Amino acid sequence: MTIPEFQRHKLDKKKLIVVTAYDALFTRIVEQAGIEAILVGDSLGVVVQGQADTLSVTMDDMLYHAKLVAGAAQRALVIGDMPFMSYQASSEDALRNAGRFLQAGAHAVKVEGGVAVIDRVAAMTSIGIPVMGHLGMTPQSVHRYGGYKVQGRESDRAAALLKDATDLEAAGAFALVLEAIPAELAKRVTEQLTIPTIGIGAGPHCDGQVLVLYDLLGLFDDFVPKFVKPYAHLKSDALQALRRYKEEVESGAFPSESESYH
Ligand code: KIV
Repeated sequence: MTIPEFQRHKLDKKKLIVVTAYDALFTRIVEQAGIEAILVGDSLGVVVQGQADTLSVTMDDMLYHAKLVAGAAQRALVIGDMPFMSYQASSEDALRNAGRFLQAGAHAVKVEGGVAVIDRVAAMTSIGIPVMGHLGMTPQSVHRYGGYKVQGRESDRAAALLKDATDLEAAGAFALVLEAIPAELAKRVTEQLTIPTIGIGAGPHCDGQVLVLYDLLGLFDDFVPKFVKPYAHLKSDALQALRRYKEEVESGAFPSESESYH
């Protein structure tokens, strides 16, 4: 999947399917399922590193996982999520750190925010780095929101989000993630933009959807937002398997003849 192919989906009215991945094993499984766009999300701070939020994730953490995913991906578009403080302070930081993602094998980067990051986005896109925007409930601003709360319900906030979306498109963003906003607002943004919108908790009218892989597989259940639909229950499967393994070692049922050498 290339950036132009990704964008063509909107014209062709073909839904874009995106999931996060953080390692080679799941990247291969995601590709086998026919999913062609992978976000190496800074959500790894929560689901892999066990932190309460994404704020402590570093560029080194992200590059490690971006290399694992990009190294395993054969067809998918790989998008590296720029972590907190890798682009906020200056356009120079943004350029240098986005460049490191591309050198690690990612094809594009994602940044959170609107008006405050427009010049960063313009700087990156002007030198050929594809950038995905991210508006709505942007997790790197969790403390400003006072928690993970739906954004854009008030008319002034909705208008500001619509303007941010237009400005991000004008700055050269190739797509836009819309997180935890009312479905009606996501519909207006989607209709207003020529670039694809990818929703997560933004209703059915977006051009595509993204979910955190461990949420959709039912692996991570510490905090399950309303917008998550678990398509499997791998945590309970894993627990069951591990409990059986423990019982069988204790009882002597494992290893049996078929797992033994002579
Ligand atoms: O970090 C992440 O996984 C994300 C998606 C939830 C959009 O930003």
